Amino acid sequence: MSELAVTLDDLRERFRTALEAASDERALDEARVAYLGRSGEVTQLRRAIGALPPGERPTAGKVINDAVERMEAELLGARERLERRELETELAQRIDVTFPSIAPQTGSIDPVRRLIEETCAYFRGHGFAVVVGPEVEPDYYNFDALNIPSDHPAREGFDSFWITQSLLLRPHTSPMQIRTMQQHAPPVAVVAPGRCYRRDAVDARHLFQFNQIEGLLVASGINFGHLKGMLGGMCRALFGPEQKVRFRPSFFPFTEPSAEVDTTCPKCHALAASCNMCGGSGWIELGGSGMVHPNVLRDVGYDPKLYSGWAFGFGAERLALIRYEVDDIRRFIASDPDFLEQLS
Ligand code: PHE
Repeated sequence: MSELAVTLDDLRERFRTALEAASDERALDEARVAYLGRSGEVTQLRRAIGALPPGERPTAGKVINDAVERMEAELLGARERLERRELETELAQRIDVTFPSIAPQTGSIDPVRRLIEETCAYFRGHGFAVVVGPEVEPDYYNFDALNIPSDHPAREGFDSFWITQSLLLRPHTSPMQIRTMQQHAPPVAVVAPGRCYRRDAVDARHLFQFNQIEGLLVASGINFGHLKGMLGGMCRALFGPEQKVRFRPSFFPFTEPSAEVDTTCPKCHALAASCNMCGGSGWIELGGSGMVHPNVLRDVGYDPKLYSGWAFGFGAERLALIRYEVDDIRRFIASDPDFLEQLS
């Protein structure tokens, strides 16, 4: 065997060892460059051909070419082996599809918002429309049109944050009664949820910013019995089938007669004298209500001899306090995830 053939045998042997040792695509490529690359060992051998006597050159060239052909085939084989091995490793991995995953953090609807939506849904189911209006109102909508003239002491209870001499942050949603009746001829049936503002010191039962839900129904032949029926149904829909309502005489300039509305305590059902929800009375206050005052109807152009109606205004946070048996209204605005997640 010629000297060249011996050199090539040795070279191929080393090349094969390098291919077998290669554990990834990169190592394979390094081997290729080292032996078959532009300045690899084989190329250097080829260059040496020029130094041979002319008669020996063709044979030498052929021997080298044969060797390169075989080395390239070996390289291909090594590459296929590597790919097969990678696939096998991948297939051998066992995936437990029953393994509990990391649950994504999900939000949920705010508890007060949920009560507002459920209340609106109840009334919508009875043919009421849901309307919203401005949080900044002229005193006309907030007082005058609601039968509270500028010298009336009832203004004091609703006195709020004034923006100008005659514009204020609304302390209740009752202005929406006026806006609705001004825009629509009777009959009207609406609920109006929204934010309200009062100059109240914040404590477990009061916020200076809170939500109310106003209700208004005006048509011919409407009486107090209709109000009682609707509110009883509302409390059963929100708090459970056993709920009852009661009315206590009260005063609002824009309703006559007027009443405070209470519902039975869903926590103790009037059974526990020590109940911390209702103080043992068995009743919890929801808000104000009454038959729309004839002056209010007249003022918006409704004839009080033809039409009558009722209105109510409930605190939405209060509804949530009752539903979730929460002890402090401030929890609803504290943005505390630990609290909110319990109610989600
Ligand atoms: N607007 C009154 C309040 O905020 C509640 C109310 C609404 C009373 C509608 C009667 C009719 O106290």
